[in-house]
Amino acid sequence: MIVAIDGPAASGKGTLAKRVAAHYGLPHLDTGLLYRAVARDALASAIDLDDAAGAAGVAEALEVATLADPDLRTAEIGEAASRVARHPAVRTVLLAYQRTFASAAPGAVLDGRDIGTVICPGADVKLFVSATPEVRALRRFLELTGRGVDISQEAVLADIRARDERDSTRGTAPLVQAKDAVLLDTSNLDIDAAFRAALDLIEAAMSRAGRAG
Ligand code: CDP
Repeated sequence: MIVAIDGPAASGKGTLAKRVAAHYGLPHLDTGLLYRAVARDALASAIDLDDAAGAAGVAEALEVATLADPDLRTAEIGEAASRVARHPAVRTVLLAYQRTFASAAPGAVLDGRDIGTVICPGADVKLFVSATPEVRALRRFLELTGRGVDISQEAVLADIRARDERDSTRGTAPLVQAKDAVLLDTSNLDIDAAFRAALDLIEAAMSRAGRAG
C-alpha cells in the first residue's frame, strides 16, 4: 500500500505521515528532507541557490544518511529548500530515489508537495493535508521555540506564506491537490483527531478500492 500525503508548509503532514506509517508498519519518507539536505549542502559549498546545474550536482552527491540531521529543520533551510526545489534538474535527480523507496514491498508512506501528482500518481491513497496559514504558523512557532529556536510568530507566518507562494507557482511539480486526493483540513483538529480522521479516510479509500477490485 502506498500512501501519498501532500500539503503546504507546516500543515502537519510529516507528523501525520509518521503516525500513519507506524500504524500500518510501513516505512516513511519525509521528502521535504531531501530538498532541505540539498539546500544545506549547496549552502555549505557556497553554491548559488539559483544555479540549477550546481544544485542538481549537489542533489546527485546527496548522502541519504545525512537526512537525520536535526539542523535541517530550521526556517532558513526551509526557505533555501524551496529555492532549490524550483529547479527541474534537482527534482529529476531526487525523483528516482523517491520512486524506488515507494515501490519497495510492502509499500510506504511519503509526504511532500508532489507525491500524489508526480512521484506516486498511482498511490492507493492520497491525502492533501491543510490548515489556515495562521494555524500552521502557530504550530511551527511552538515547534521551533520548543527546540530553543529564537524566532517570532510573525516571522514564521511570513516564511510560511513566502514558501507556499513559491511552491504553488513554480513551473515544475507545483504544490497542488491531486484531482483524486482527499482534503483533510486540520485547522480545528489536534494531532490525535487529525490522525483518526486520516485513518478513517485511508480505510474508506482502501475499502472502495477493494470493492472496485
Ligand atoms: O515541513 P515543511 O512543510 O515546512 O517543509 P518540508 O516538507 O520539509 O519542505 C521544504 C521545502 O521543500 C518546501 O517548501 C518545498 O519547496 C520543497 N519540497 C518540494 O518541493 N517537494 C516535496 N515533495 C517536498 C518538499
